[in-house]
Amino acid sequence: MTTLIDYLASEMAKLRQAGTYKEELVLDSPQDAKVQVGGRELVMLTSNNYLGFANHPRVREAQKRAIDRWGAGMASVRFICGTDSLHLALERRIAEFFDAEGAILYTSCWNANEALFAGILDEPDAVFSDELNHASIIDGIRLCRAKRYRYAHGSLDALAEMLDADASRYRVVVTDGVFSMEGELARLPALIELCRQKHALLVVDDSHGTGVLGERGRGTMEELGVHGQVDVVTGTLGKALGGAVGGFVAGPGAVVETLRQRSRPYLFSNAMPPMVAAGSLAAFDLLDQEPDRVRRLRENTEFFRAALRDRGFDVREGVHPIVPIIVGDTALAIRLSQELLEEGVYVSGFGFPVVPKGEARLRAQISAAHTLEELGTAVEAIARVGARHGVIPA
Ligand SMILES: Cc1ncc(COP(=O)(O)O)c(C=O)c1O
Repeated sequence: MTTLIDYLASEMAKLRQAGTYKEELVLDSPQDAKVQVGGRELVMLTSNNYLGFANHPRVREAQKRAIDRWGAGMASVRFICGTDSLHLALERRIAEFFDAEGAILYTSCWNANEALFAGILDEPDAVFSDELNHASIIDGIRLCRAKRYRYAHGSLDALAEMLDADASRYRVVVTDGVFSMEGELARLPALIELCRQKHALLVVDDSHGTGVLGERGRGTMEELGVHGQVDVVTGTLGKALGGAVGGFVAGPGAVVETLRQRSRPYLFSNAMPPMVAAGSLAAFDLLDQEPDRVRRLRENTEFFRAALRDRGFDVREGVHPIVPIIVGDTALAIRLSQELLEEGVYVSGFGFPVVPKGEARLRAQISAAHTLEELGTAVEAIARVGARHGVIPA
């Protein structure tokens, strides 16, 4: 008789055979514009280190000082004995950043999304989710007892129809601010309008927008001229804002208070380590004091997109530093990313089922930490490999 262990081993063997087994490359250096892997220096084009804070001296120093002042960790959940003044300062900072009444910290945005829906909704309620929302939203919704609706990606008509046909007590609409395979922005102004008309609460997960979009890095809401108009924002501290870990929900005081009292990841999981909170506070300071970083990120992105288009690549339109380079076939996307490692560029290939069939791609992510020279070198390498495989003319 096969055991569960035998079965799992055979499933893993199948993944290897299909070429879809996810191998992990080991970095020998800090996360940065360039990294060391296996003795080779690579231009990093696949991290979420949008502002270059993951290895910034001030973020590192803040973390070190916090260890000396506050110790290694809290050894408690927040409400028992795991809250220190750094947690409160960071929550205030996040609330101010989004012009919200309050904010609550979690140890990841995954946790924040897992906490939110089950924390505020119950059986008579309903939640409406874009079909391309992040896995953490999908799983978070699965944990709550409200009725679930999934609307066609970006279709406000489909959403409006569902809202009209639904008679639930309270309704929540949730969308990613930035859809991470495309770097595509949600249609927030129209969503805000629709939610107001239909009396639904709008939740935006702006993990890829926070620190990245808008003149001051306040995210997709600022970029689209609706800063402060979304009811509830969730996001991560693990991408632009320090790159360590951490997530949050920012919104009305009653939502934050309810989550503090009721949400299970807050009540039953350890508090964020003080050093992580200190690093994130330093990242917020840097963003305030050096707003040029956001401008540099945008300029780097424009340069990179234009240089790839000049070479004949199919690059989706957009302003976000996620730059999808469409190559079509999944095996080809993976092959290109492997060959690019040999050429000194670290960029990921994604194919079906993560993206639609025939739209496999290299997904590049730009950072403010990149120099134009590094980006130029990366484009040359991508063009060499692309030409070798007929993606662009030789
Ligand atoms: C839209 C979105 N939400 C949530 C997450 C999870 O964030 P964290 O790494 O903080 O759990 C991610 C990260 O990939 C994301 O892209």
